[in-house]
Amino acid sequence: MKITKKTACCIMAVIMIIAAVPFTASAAPAESKALQFGEDGKFTIMMFADIQDDENVEETTIALMNDSLDKYKPDMVVYLGDNTVADGYDKQLSAIKTITEPCVTRGVPYAIVFGNHDQEQGVEKEDLLKMYQSFGCLTYDADPNIYGCGNCNLPILSSDGSKTAFNLWLIDSGSRNPDKEVGGYDYVRKDQIAWYESTAAALKAQNGGVTVPSVLFQHIVVPEVYKAMYPVFPIKVGSYSTYDGKTYIPIPSFSSHTGMTLEPPCPPYVTEGQFESWVKTGDIIASFHGHDHINYYTTSYEGIDINCVPSVGCNAYSNELVRGVGLLTLDENDTDSYKYELINMFDMALSENSTILNADGAKSKAYYTFIKIINKFFMAIHNVFIAAAPNK
Ligand SMILES: [Fe+2]
Repeated sequence: MKITKKTACCIMAVIMIIAAVPFTASAAPAESKALQFGEDGKFTIMMFADIQDDENVEETTIALMNDSLDKYKPDMVVYLGDNTVADGYDKQLSAIKTITEPCVTRGVPYAIVFGNHDQEQGVEKEDLLKMYQSFGCLTYDADPNIYGCGNCNLPILSSDGSKTAFNLWLIDSGSRNPDKEVGGYDYVRKDQIAWYESTAAALKAQNGGVTVPSVLFQHIVVPEVYKAMYPVFPIKVGSYSTYDGKTYIPIPSFSSHTGMTLEPPCPPYVTEGQFESWVKTGDIIASFHGHDHINYYTTSYEGIDINCVPSVGCNAYSNELVRGVGLLTLDENDTDSYKYELINMFDMALSENSTILNADGAKSKAYYTFIKIINKFFMAIHNVFIAAAPNK
């Protein structure tokens, strides 16, 4: 068939329109089934933190995600940032497609927050968000004028569908502090905090003046984690007095937390009052963070729990003692509390019908058994210290 110049132009135009379709997602959330508590009153959220991989995603990471989804069948998934670090647009798109496929193929709704590394590969977060949205991601940019990208909230309906029973906050904690003299990681800005407060007030008004209980997902932990978990050194030591002018001993007090903390947390050195805003607003019962790959803990400060979810991936640093996925269970009949547990990699590798052992890069069954024994030993020791420690 002879193709004239005009026909060729038409074909090219059609191809361009088709090619553009997946990336014309608007700032509004994609059309999807509403998030809703089940008939049992429960809503479960699986958390994948710090996959931090390129277009050739580690097979063990995908196997762990697949097996965990199949075993626990969560109502939704949240990717906790540092999701992909592939070089350039096409490879980032490929990496995002690969890491979201476990959810997409199972029809599990999912949302993301960005970490400090996602935008470091030559693709802006706005473009990354469009990629995620083209694969059904629920995250949207509620107010593109405020700092960061993908700041938004997702309401969860009550089991009878009559009202918003719970709310999820997704906040972008940025990358690096642009003030090089101060240094360290980025921090949540005043305009993000103002947006959070005004949106929380609107939710409360829509809920007949009753505060809507919430949890918050954000890659980088708030500096208050030090006040919650770490003893203050009696004298100030120059460069270590970074968070609030005090110097903290980098070993957490045993009575301050549960879990396994294998590295000091890395919050930003400055704050514009994000945590105080949570306390003042009164809706957030707990926050969940990635970023510190080998930490799994729950601590509490001023009545709000701060949780760390360790890395699901192993492309960046990780530790098999805590590598895994987070599982959060909310209960519409008891919105003051929640259950957070770590689904360990070693347990999933040792479980029946695991696909992890067949994945490229997996260790042997004997290895995972050994890691499990070490983990249980450490946890037992930790629990003895917790029991013996004076209450804070
Ligand atoms: Fe990370």
